[in-house]
Amino acid sequence: MAAASKISAFGAINSSGLPPARMSASASTAPSAPPAGLTSLDPAGDRWHPRADLPDKIAGRLEYLTDARAPEMLVGRILRAGRPHARIRAIDTAAAEAMPGVRAVVTHRDVPGLNAFGIMWQDQPALCADMVRHEGDPVAAVAATDAAAAEAALAAIRVDYVDLPPVIDPAAALAPDAPILHPQGNLAAETGIDRGDLAAGFAAAAHVVEETYVTPRQMHAFLETEGGWCAPTADGGLMVAVGGQHGARDRMQLARILALPEERIRVVTSPVGGGFGGKDELTVQPALALLALKAGAPVRMHLSRAESVLAGVKRNPMTIRMRSGCDAAGRLVAQEVELLADCGAYASLSPAVMETALEHAAGPYLVPNLRTRGRLAYTNNGTCGAFRGFGANQMTFAIECQMDRLAARCGLDPAEIRRRNLRRPGMPGFLGQAVAGSERLDEMLAAAAASPLWATPQEEGDEVFATGMALNYQGNGLGSLPDDQAEGALRLAADGAIEMLCGLDEMGQGLVPALQAAVADRLGCARSDVRPVFGDTGLAPDAGSTSASRGTFVAWHLADRAAPGLAAALRDGAARLLGRPAEALRIVPGGIAEVGSNSSAPQLGLAELARGLLPGGLPETTAHVAFPKTGYTRGNARYVFAFGATLARVGIDRVTGAVRVTDLHLHSACGPVLDLAAYLGQLEGGAMQGLGLTLTEDILIAGGRTLTRNLDSYMIPTIRDMPARMAMTALEDLDPDDPWGPRGAGELGIGAVTPAIANAVGAALGRWPAIAPFPPEAILQLIEEPAS
Ligand code: MTE
Ligand code: MOS
Repeated sequence: MAAASKISAFGAINSSGLPPARMSASASTAPSAPPAGLTSLDPAGDRWHPRADLPDKIAGRLEYLTDARAPEMLVGRILRAGRPHARIRAIDTAAAEAMPGVRAVVTHRDVPGLNAFGIMWQDQPALCADMVRHEGDPVAAVAATDAAAAEAALAAIRVDYVDLPPVIDPAAALAPDAPILHPQGNLAAETGIDRGDLAAGFAAAAHVVEETYVTPRQMHAFLETEGGWCAPTADGGLMVAVGGQHGARDRMQLARILALPEERIRVVTSPVGGGFGGKDELTVQPALALLALKAGAPVRMHLSRAESVLAGVKRNPMTIRMRSGCDAAGRLVAQEVELLADCGAYASLSPAVMETALEHAAGPYLVPNLRTRGRLAYTNNGTCGAFRGFGANQMTFAIECQMDRLAARCGLDPAEIRRRNLRRPGMPGFLGQAVAGSERLDEMLAAAAASPLWATPQEEGDEVFATGMALNYQGNGLGSLPDDQAEGALRLAADGAIEMLCGLDEMGQGLVPALQAAVADRLGCARSDVRPVFGDTGLAPDAGSTSASRGTFVAWHLADRAAPGLAAALRDGAARLLGRPAEALRIVPGGIAEVGSNSSAPQLGLAELARGLLPGGLPETTAHVAFPKTGYTRGNARYVFAFGATLARVGIDRVTGAVRVTDLHLHSACGPVLDLAAYLGQLEGGAMQGLGLTLTEDILIAGGRTLTRNLDSYMIPTIRDMPARMAMTALEDLDPDDPWGPRGAGELGIGAVTPAIANAVGAALGRWPAIAPFPPEAILQLIEEPAS
């Protein structure tokens, strides 16, 4: 393959100023050397920095918001409806209120403002007033002196329900006789595009494949379930400390519910013990805030795992019917995509998830004749919303499996059919929108084609082995319709720390190292000189939500814009203190040094500089970042993308049908890697979350009743399920004129694992699993039924 030569044909172009690394690989886990031209992404190498945020987490020292305890803190509990669909006739809290230890009981009657929230539109009650739409719907809440008193009080609340027939699946929800869940009807959203002449396209096709792909109700399964604490403040305001992904938006939504001015509410959202999209929407904040205000005291709340399973948002299950046609040479001529997604009871971000899925309906391939349709249906199946990959990964499952099926029909290998259909750098995006350059799909494809995994043995004992691939093509950022922007600031603190103020959240993904690396790179100081200030509306400006893999982009651009001003101010200040011209000074790790001096030891430490400048005021610069616009206004379209290729080698047990993933290789191209440890963690962690999505994870709901009630029946991968060998590479270069810097890798790891595994199964059996997760029984069926 041309992989190596193509990759090394690019110069060491690196607009970020970071060390120009070529494609690099995690050598410690790589089963064999990466292709020639790729250098090692080595945990022992000199670009590897231990993550500053990890020692406290690993030692259990870090205090999460759910860990906060104070003697006067009350304990909050929520009464969940426990039935999927009902009308509420009356709620009687008198007995609960009279119980010992109970300090506040709240219902919808206690909501002073709008009893509704939702990121896209407000259809979700803070506390149910007249209707229950899923089992986990909150009906009332109690704050008491201890948990036992709070739980006893919940049991004493009398609710008079009239049960209604549940809407149990999206197709039934859209039938004319379905019970209606919201005033607008059960069709929460509908979208799609038409291009070219579909009928003519299919008429010209030499091969047509059609399949219906089904994806599961995956649960985020974060280590820290939803929770935190809330306290009234002396000025009549409110302090809210609940793990979240966008404090400023949480504050805006709470202000509406509580009828309080936003300025009186401070929202602390970090640290977060895992979000993965599941904490983007409000979780326990409304009930907790109402309790704290009514009790006039701090209240804490932390959902049990069972309650989190019942009440938390999930990945939208999708049914995707895809019909794809190609000519005899394997070139796509037509594609029809019909998507039906389960919204659950409330919209949250589901309409955007569906739109994102459809934005990836052709993956990175060119299809002249195309029709896409998506419908999102309200049901009584819990609530759904954002989850890593955000619809793109569901669609990638479908399109990448279609490519392998067509390849088999055409007698092409999986890499070759993709090569024949791949979009070229510089082309408009799928929706005709402008997109950023530095596309690296060719390189990803070449790296996949050159993978040593293709040459692995075919059989061993009861197992048959095969390799599958899938390309990653994942939008970054919120897209063209919302104003996707961020504010931040950089300043010298009194103790000499360089503070980077940014309202994003650290959920484990590596915001802290990203901010440290970006500021150190732009300013010339050490990472350890940089103290990120984040996840608190009282301390850091609004940087938008920590979602859509936008954190790295935002962090780097804020640092890039704020750094020159601060650097000038630091040099000017040092010049006055040292009696030297500013031009003779530069910023080095730890402080200010002389230009041209061989020693990088600072002449003036940052702490001394701060002490010297303090009387006159410490320097601060602000920055504003806006994601580039795409020019597309008829729907959402992304400008910035990340690229990858995922390869899986699987062993299929012919007796049991079990699929065992022995190797996972992820090639990625996201521009310069800000922090190797975080980047590698994102790829590996994402890949493992993808493994669960593919093989075992699904929250089962039948008749509106949640059957999977806890982690004992919800199977996330454990260390034993990890592939024996994982290898991750990063291609870091950008086009010579690319001003956009690092892209996000947060969703890349999970993005193409499902189709890579499905395609490995397809390669082994000649038949592809289409319903994820793939249980052994389904694989046995594929083995037993002859290929058609
Ligand atoms: N990694 C960890 N450890 N914890 C998380 O909650 N969330 C994921 C991903 N990786 C998550 C994670 C999701 S859904 C997104 S959108 C990105 O991180 C968000 O962070 P970033 O934009 O800073 O990459
Ligand atoms: Mo990630 S689902 O965009 O929070």
